[in-house]
Parts: sequence; C-alpha cells; structure tokens
Amino acid sequence: MASATATPDTLPAWQTLQQHAQALKHVHLKNLFGEDPSRWQHFTRQVAGLTLDLSKQRWDDDTLEHLLALAQEAGVPGAIEALLSGKRVNVSENRPALHTALRLPADASLDVEGEDIVGAVHDSLAQMERLVQRLHAGQWRGATGKPIRHVVNLGVGGSDLGPLMVTHALADYRPSDIHPVEVHFASTMDGSQLADYLSRFNPETTLFVLSSKSFTTIDTLSNANTARDWLIGRLTQHADLPDASPHAKPISEALILRQHFIGVSASPDKMSEWGITPDHQLMFWEWVGGRYSLWGTIGLPIALVIGMENFRELLAGAHAMDRHFREAPLEDNLPVLLGLAGIWNVNFLDIRAHSILPYDGRLEYFAAYLEQLEMESNGKSVTRQGQAVNYSTCPVLWGQLGPNAQHAFYQLLHQGTQPVVCDFIAPLKRYDEVEDPDTRRHLKAQHRLALANCFAQSRVLMLGNDALEEDGPRPEHKRYRGNQPSTTVLLDKLTPATLGALIALYEHKVFVQAVIWDINPFDQWGVELGKQIATDTQAIIDGEGDLGRMDASSRGLIEAFWAAEQA
Ligand code: F6P
Repeated sequence: MASATATPDTLPAWQTLQQHAQALKHVHLKNLFGEDPSRWQHFTRQVAGLTLDLSKQRWDDDTLEHLLALAQEAGVPGAIEALLSGKRVNVSENRPALHTALRLPADASLDVEGEDIVGAVHDSLAQMERLVQRLHAGQWRGATGKPIRHVVNLGVGGSDLGPLMVTHALADYRPSDIHPVEVHFASTMDGSQLADYLSRFNPETTLFVLSSKSFTTIDTLSNANTARDWLIGRLTQHADLPDASPHAKPISEALILRQHFIGVSASPDKMSEWGITPDHQLMFWEWVGGRYSLWGTIGLPIALVIGMENFRELLAGAHAMDRHFREAPLEDNLPVLLGLAGIWNVNFLDIRAHSILPYDGRLEYFAAYLEQLEMESNGKSVTRQGQAVNYSTCPVLWGQLGPNAQHAFYQLLHQGTQPVVCDFIAPLKRYDEVEDPDTRRHLKAQHRLALANCFAQSRVLMLGNDALEEDGPRPEHKRYRGNQPSTTVLLDKLTPATLGALIALYEHKVFVQAVIWDINPFDQWGVELGKQIATDTQAIIDGEGDLGRMDASSRGLIEAFWAAEQA
C-alpha cells in the first residue's frame, strides 16, 4: 500500500497514466477496435464460470501496462496477501477483514494471530444447518404447536441486501422435497414492509430472524419490537383465535420468544438481553464486515431458500474466485483488471458515474447490493493515514435491470452530458430445465432477445452513430456520440457457484481500488453522524428537546409534523 509520503497520485505510474490519458482522450473507441481486431482476445479473461470482457473499455495495451505498473507501485500484490492471510487491514478499527475465511473449505486452515479460525467457521455453519434442517423438516413449531410457514428476516444494509439479492437470484434452486417455508425481508425503519406481513401472516406460523451484526441498529430493533409485541399480543390470547381448539392453554411470553425468534449477530450479550434464547443465537465475528457477511450465518435466509448443499456451492464459487485473486498474475487477475478499469475511468478519463445493468430478472437486487458494497466501502476522502485525498475515489454507482432501464434512464447514457461507464451482466445459458417444450422454446427465445439487447446496448454505447452501417444525414437530436466505455460479465449459467464467484469478483475489485486509492474499504464512519443527529432529532420530535436550537428548515419540518399530528 502507498506509504504516508507517497499518495497514489505521486507514484511514477500515476504520472505516466496522466500523460497517456491526454493522448488517448481524443481517440474514439471505434478506432481502437478498427486498429486491433483482436481486442476481444486481448482484453477478455475467464475464470470460475465467468467471462470478463474489458475490450470495450477506452484503453489500449499501453494503458493496461501502465495500470499494472500502478498496481505494483501501490502494493496490490502484498495487500492481497495481507487481506487473505488475516492481517489487520481494517486500520481504523484495528482488525482483519476475513469474509474470505467464511468460504474456506473445512479441510483448510487459517492461522489468525495464533488461532486457526476455520474450525469455528464450520461450527457456525453446522449450527445454522441444524436450524435450517428443523425448519425444512417442518419440525420447528410455533408456540401453539403449528409448523413455521413464514420466516421474516429483520435486518438492514449488509444484514438485508446480500441475503435479499441472493435468495432472489437463486430462487430456482429451492429444494423440492422440503416443508414449504417462505422467506421474506423487512428492512425499513418506517415499518412499511413489516406492516404488510403483519396484516397477512398468521402469528402462529411466523418466525422472525433478527439479523444485526451490532444488534444496536435502530431500524432492525424497531421492527423487532413491533414484531415481538404483535406475536405476544396475539399468541398470549391464542385461546381466542378463530381456529384455536377449545382446550387451548395460555402461552407464555418466554415460549413465544423462544419459538418465534432467531438472532444472528456478533454480540451474544445483546441478543440475550433482547430475549433471544441462546440455542437460537447464530454467531459471527467482528472481523466480518456487515456488507461482506452473506457468506456466514447472516446467510441463513439464503440457506432456507436454496438449502445447505446449494449454500455450500455458493461458498465454493466465491472461494474459487479467492484462490484466483491470490494466485493469478496481475495481468490475468479478473478482480485486479476490473478494479484497474475503474481507476482508469475515474482518475484519468474523469468518468464518475457507474451503472450496473444485469440482463436477467433474477439479478433484480444486484445493483442495490453493489451500491452498498462499493459506495459504503470506497466512498471515502481520507487516506489510511488520515490525510485528505486530492483525487477522486468511488464513483456514484447505481443500476437496475438492464431491459427495464432501457425504457427509463438509457436516454441519459446515450445522449446525456454526463459520461457513464456501464457493467452489463448476463448468463449465457438459461431455461434448459423448463419441462414443457413449448414454454421452454418461448422462454429460450426471450433469453436470446435479452442477450441481443444487452450486446446491442454496449455496441451502441461504444460506436454511437456508426453502429448503423447506413448512416445518412441526421438531425442533432438523433445523433449518438458513442465512445462510452463498458464492461460485460457473462456467466456460463446463473448457479450458486457462479453467483458466488461474481460477488467475490466485485468484493475484490473494491479492495483493489481501495489499495490504489490508499483508503480503508472496511469501515463506514460516514454513516455515524446521521445516526447521532437522528437520535437528537427524535427527542425533539417527541417533545423532549429544545426545538429552538434547530435551524429554520428543520424547525419548520418538525412543526409541520406536529401540526399534522394534531389535525
Ligand atoms: O449504518 C451502516 C451499517 O452499519 C452497515 O454497515 C451495516 O451493514 C448496517 O448498518 C446494518 O448493521 P447491523 O448489521 O449492525 O445492524
């Protein structure tokens, strides 16, 4: 990693890249393709069921050579080793970032400061597996004796987005021979998602998973408290429920807490204090960051949807990417190359917006997941040593399913004033398992349609007007400048293993960029002040603080709320 005196912008390769960028700024992507018909071979790499096509980046061989030199000068190889071997890479919190340890095989070993942690990791997975098996066997019964049907995950940020994204992506992998358990997610502190579930679900057959690394997050705890009181209110009087037997006995609060709540956290004390019974507490460690935590017990909703066998495949796919990250030379290393493409766009081509565009409906939540992964990790402006940076770091990153985004914000991609780099993501094969031949034929045709659109969009972004051979005179409003870079990631097929590899690819890309920018991707101090001020503001809203010390806007907003309450 760059030392205190050598910020990345003072490294020789950075300076070379600046000059090189001046020369390349005026070269259109279509010319780069014209000059080198083998760009696809040159800039495409494959590993773990993924193909990464970087040929539509606005770069050439020299660019890549200079970027690889930058990675060397910034210490990327040493940093990869430090990350994977459990060094304290999270400097502001003085701890390792060991999400990769959660996907090590059981026969591996990883000595972290004198302790082999692999055994403990696999014990926690085994404990999770036991809970999953009970639920899948229909043996987990609610307080009135009925098997659980609905599991609602209460969590936010990393305790929500990873499991939400993966359960949605891999819903086809649901085992068929299990007691049906439906998994749902409630994250927002305003209670809207939860209120919907509470209005529809039977409390007797509903179980809540409280997922919170810290177990202090108000969003999750406020949902948890509402859920607890909903259950207690209904089940303690269950003798009055419409379908209760005439012999139904009163049910204790302790039994309700025991049968209707599982906790997942790094803080067993706080789970116990809240009322989670110790056998229903799943643990993880301080050295797993929230947004990197889906691989362990926070992944319980995933295991409930796809089963433990598929969950282990997800881990195996991520582990394959970890090994590649550690072993492949920089020039063939997918996360390194993806990270370098980002550095080139942000710091040298001045492209500070990045759109994530999957062409597969199952990846609906992938962009939301990456928004946290990338922006909470690298949305920083001080170096690891606490100096202000004077170069750009994480771009604004957002996205949506590509086919839907075509009818929403692609207008800006093609003709707006803001340059945007896009990641297109799609599986090559789909729908082979659909039984009915006619439906299979239709769905496969739809898959081809989606791929055609995906490939067409990156081509138009690259070539602009020249995408059409017959290009007569056009008015300005029908012109496309092109020259917009993009990356395409193809999955052989969307499976637990390839999804694991895809997520790990992005996790490591974020790390590579953080190393080059000399920032710590594993803390998130930027979210703390807002939490404090919200506590303060809540006291004022509740009439327990001094409204007079608020600014005029905040005062006006609070008074508007008070007036509405009284109306
Ligand atoms: O406030 C941000 C954050 O700390 C995220 O980093 C984290 O994923 C989320 O809140 C939820 O935190 P927890 O799992 O501790 O409830």
